[in-house]
Amino acid sequence: MRIDILTLFPGMFQGPFSESIIKRASEQKQVELFLHDIRDFSTDKHRRVDDYPFGGGAGMVMQIEPISRLIEKLKSERHYDEIIYMTPDGQRLEQGIVNTLSLNNNIMILCGHYKGVDHRVRDHYITMEISVGDYVLTGGELAAAVVVDAVVRLIPGVISDETSALTDSFQDNLLAPPVYTRPAVFNGWKVPDVLLSGHQAKIDQWRESQAMERTQRLRPDLLDD
Ligand code: ADE
Repeated sequence: MRIDILTLFPGMFQGPFSESIIKRASEQKQVELFLHDIRDFSTDKHRRVDDYPFGGGAGMVMQIEPISRLIEKLKSERHYDEIIYMTPDGQRLEQGIVNTLSLNNNIMILCGHYKGVDHRVRDHYITMEISVGDYVLTGGELAAAVVVDAVVRLIPGVISDETSALTDSFQDNLLAPPVYTRPAVFNGWKVPDVLLSGHQAKIDQWRESQAMERTQRLRPDLLDD
């Protein structure tokens, strides 16, 4: 899978993309991540990419020309399955969207800043708008990194234990059951007996009932649909 990220701040991705699972997935070519600096596509001598909003008001708007040049260049090189815009007024990200995205070959992610992008970008290029939650970030970069992280770990072979992505919280609309490891007793705090019993059917049953109980108590909304 190839992911192209269009941003004013490529440096914001250095940390997330150069550690842990994403780093390994890139090294092993399971994902190809490309960062594009929108400023490189400005024709202004000061590399400006924003301007005042028509109709007045506070804040600046990202101009269509540099973004259009960059998107048209990428589109001329390959087909993109989705061109995603990160924005707080997009569709709220959840596991189902992540699962669908992970099946694509090529996706583009545009990160907004200031008051957002000229709406013609959204009307004519964007195929999907995603929000990571009902709060406002300083820009789309951290949100895009969240999408990339959630998608990349689902690419076959990226997580060594193939089944572990399927047993995550949310994959079946349930929170995951509690997990424990050695020591079996710490500070007098004991691991539930059933997990030490060696009785696999009982362990599976316990995990299912814990998942259900935790979901009912902590996230009853997940059981609504
Ligand atoms: N850009 C700013 N805030 C955002 C959010 N909550 N989700 C996605 N992109 C954003």
